[in-house]
Amino acid sequence: MRRIKEEFLGKVETVVPLKDLSVLEIGCGDGSRSIEIASRCTALHAIEPDKHKLRQALARNIPNASFCVGPAESLSFGDQSFDAIIFTLSLHHVPIEMMETAINEAVRVTRTNAYIIFLEPAQDGTFFDAEITFDACDGDERKEKVAAYDAIQKHRRLRSIAEIDDETVFQFDSVDDFNQSMMPKKNQRDIQEFLEKNNYILRASRRINICQPKSLS
Ligand SMILES: C[S@@+](CC[C@H](N)C(=O)[O-])C[C@H]1O[C@@H](n2cnc3c(N)ncnc32)[C@H](O)[C@@H]1O
Repeated sequence: MRRIKEEFLGKVETVVPLKDLSVLEIGCGDGSRSIEIASRCTALHAIEPDKHKLRQALARNIPNASFCVGPAESLSFGDQSFDAIIFTLSLHHVPIEMMETAINEAVRVTRTNAYIIFLEPAQDGTFFDAEITFDACDGDERKEKVAAYDAIQKHRRLRSIAEIDDETVFQFDSVDDFNQSMMPKKNQRDIQEFLEKNNYILRASRRINICQPKSLS
C-alpha cells in the first residue's frame, strides 16, 4: 500500500508555517508522517502509546526528532512546552470518554498563541468502504470519528482558526498487498472484485482542524 496523494502538511502550512516551531506530534504510529513534519519544523517531539510502532518510528533515525511512549490523555511534558501540536489521525483512537482530557492536555502543553492541529478521517471514501466491508485495517470507526469531531467543536478551550478538507489516496499493487496492509477479517472472497472496480486505488477523505488555545475569562 502506497500513499499516492498526500497534501496534509502543505495545507497546514498555508495557515501555520512550521519552520520556526517546536512541534509535538500525537499518535505518531510508525513515524511515517513524522519524517515530513520534522523536515518542516525546528524540532519534533512525538508520542505514541504502542511500543512496537514507536520502535519503528525510532528506527527511522530522524535527526531533529525525539520519540517517547505515552497516550494523548496523559502527556509527560511541562506546561507551555510547544508552539504547535499535531494529532495525526489519533484523536479518534483515544477512548471517547478521554477525548476531552486529551485536548485539555494539548492546551496545557502549548504556549500562548500556539496552534493545536487535528488531522482526522472524515466519513467518505472507498478506503473507508473497504474498512467496513472487509472489517479491514481499523474497521468501522464511524462512531469514534463523530465523537472526535464533536470533542474538537465543543471544547471550551479551543478557538477554531480554520477547517480544511483533505484527502489521502492509496494505491495497492495486488490483492496480497491489500491483505498484508489492511488485514481484512471478513468477506475476503469479494476483495479482488472490489479492488478491480476501483482500479486498486482507494480514497480516504480527511478533515484538518486548526485551532488555538482559548483562555477562559
Ligand atoms: C491511524 S494511526 C495514525 C498513525 C500515524 N500518526 C499516521 O498518521 O500514519 C492512529 C495512531 O494513534 C495511536 N493511538 C491509539 N490510542 C492513542 C492514545 N490514547 N493517544 C495517542 N495515540 C493513540 C495508535 O497507536 C496509532 O499509532
